[in-house]
Amino acid sequence: MTIYSVHSICCIGAGYVGGPTMAVIADRCPHITVTVVDLNDSRIEAWNNPDLNQLPIYEPGLEAVISRARGRNLFFSTSVNEAIASADMVFISVNTPTKNKGIGAGQASDLRWVEACARQVAQYAQGHTVVIEKSTLPVRTAAVIKAILDTPQCQPGENEALPTFSVLSNPEFLAEGTAIRDLEQPDRVLIGGDDEVAVDALSTIYSYWVPTEKILRTNLWSSELSKLIANAFLAQRISSINSVAALCESTGADVREVALAIGTDSRIGSKFLSAGPGFGGSCFKKDILNLVYLCRHFSLPEVAAYWEQVIELNNWQQNRIAGLLVQRLFGTVTGKRLAILGFAFKADTNDTRESPAISISLDLLEEGAQLAIHDPKVDPLQIARDLHKSPSNSSAGLNGEGTWQFSPTVRDAVQGADAVLILTEWDQYRKLNWQELAEIMRAPAWVFDTRSVVDPVEIAEAGLLMWRLGEGVD
Ligand code: NAD
Ligand code: UGA
Repeated sequence: MTIYSVHSICCIGAGYVGGPTMAVIADRCPHITVTVVDLNDSRIEAWNNPDLNQLPIYEPGLEAVISRARGRNLFFSTSVNEAIASADMVFISVNTPTKNKGIGAGQASDLRWVEACARQVAQYAQGHTVVIEKSTLPVRTAAVIKAILDTPQCQPGENEALPTFSVLSNPEFLAEGTAIRDLEQPDRVLIGGDDEVAVDALSTIYSYWVPTEKILRTNLWSSELSKLIANAFLAQRISSINSVAALCESTGADVREVALAIGTDSRIGSKFLSAGPGFGGSCFKKDILNLVYLCRHFSLPEVAAYWEQVIELNNWQQNRIAGLLVQRLFGTVTGKRLAILGFAFKADTNDTRESPAISISLDLLEEGAQLAIHDPKVDPLQIARDLHKSPSNSSAGLNGEGTWQFSPTVRDAVQGADAVLILTEWDQYRKLNWQELAEIMRAPAWVFDTRSVVDPVEIAEAGLLMWRLGEGVD
């Protein structure tokens, strides 16, 4: 039996997944040359920046991995064709966003970048190449990739053999903010495919640092579907606990106590039970929409409606926050300064994709608020893109126009504010000196905590009013 010996890996897509995933493979397998390629020059330039603080993504632990492997056996490049030609294994790790027009718009995944990669691999690969789906994809995409790869792109020369391919699915389960830990100590690695030799080759790579019993093998379709279902189950838990938070607020119960009470049941488990302003991130919404689309495609409308409700509840949760705040600030926030603490969709990342902070800030701007936004890692230019609006250093006052500015420190943001709204659970927000902050706010001043990061006793002692998500009043 042939055993593929892997000396060279190419990963197409140097994003949040491609970059860290390949960095860890290169770190753990110094005998394999790993080249991460992307069409985006500035992204590749940032991955090659000698200043590790300028890497294109922020992930705890990433700098150390990059500094060990980069230039040794890990390379970032825009030479896509060359990297494909010299690779034994090609990972496709490109973006698969929701389609915004045409058939399936608003639900189906846009596979144009995946298809482009498959065509490029078909054209430039040499010999036998194992092609691996790392992107999250609709079930049966591997069949599409295989069909493209198996169509000869050009006639081989007289003594040249046509390239051959095996296609595997190897979805990624890392979460942003904990990517390096998730990659170094994964709960499992999933490999789907029917070419045992190719599966063995990929499994061998992971086995350099992942215990064999954690490397699961399935057929292609189970692997592709499991990725969508894992995200759907995780998102479903968040919508479930957020629905309970609203019920707690109305009944005098406390969602933290309810989460503890149910989470200690080992059948339920304690993880993913933190109520919050709604889930964000680039994937939960997109992957559930994709799942809903697939269910409809396979004539399962009841199943589609079931999963769709997870997103509807999440939209409702994000939308209700601004309304609650306006209601408590005497029914208007026009001309009022509001400090927004946290803009990333979760702590320990600079990613703002689908962050609840975006829709909540837009709702408050619509109400005429003057937002002072702080985030320790998000670039103010990204905030401007997300809010479709430039920052303004002058406040528009009572003329009704909402404005925003970026505040480099929490103290700057809170200075003169009527309220603080905490939207991301950055660790530094757990350690704020509320006595000092209360002195620079305009009374009666409020703290709105959607992430359960502040101590209610400290807030009360500082003379501040407080609303916490999921906390009922007696
Ligand atoms: P991303 O947008 O950060 O990165 C994708 C990169 O692919 C971009 O830099 C883009 O320029 C590049 N690209 C697109 N087409 C290309 C082509 N033809 N040739 C070369 N480069 C090309 O996306 P991401 O967050 O890394 O996600 C990638 C995939 O992984 C998605 O399917 C996503 O659902 C999945 N995923 C993401 C996460 C996450 O935490 N972000 C976790 C698990 C799975
Ligand atoms: C999620 C999954 O956790 C990963 O396994 C998956 O690989 C990834 O999506 C993906 O496919 O992209 P990620 O979105 O990076 O990872 O981060 P999560 O930790 O899952 O958080 C997602 C959102 O849910 C965040 O907005 C977070 O604040 C929110 N959340 C999470 C809660 O509101 N409560 C919780 O208890 C947990």
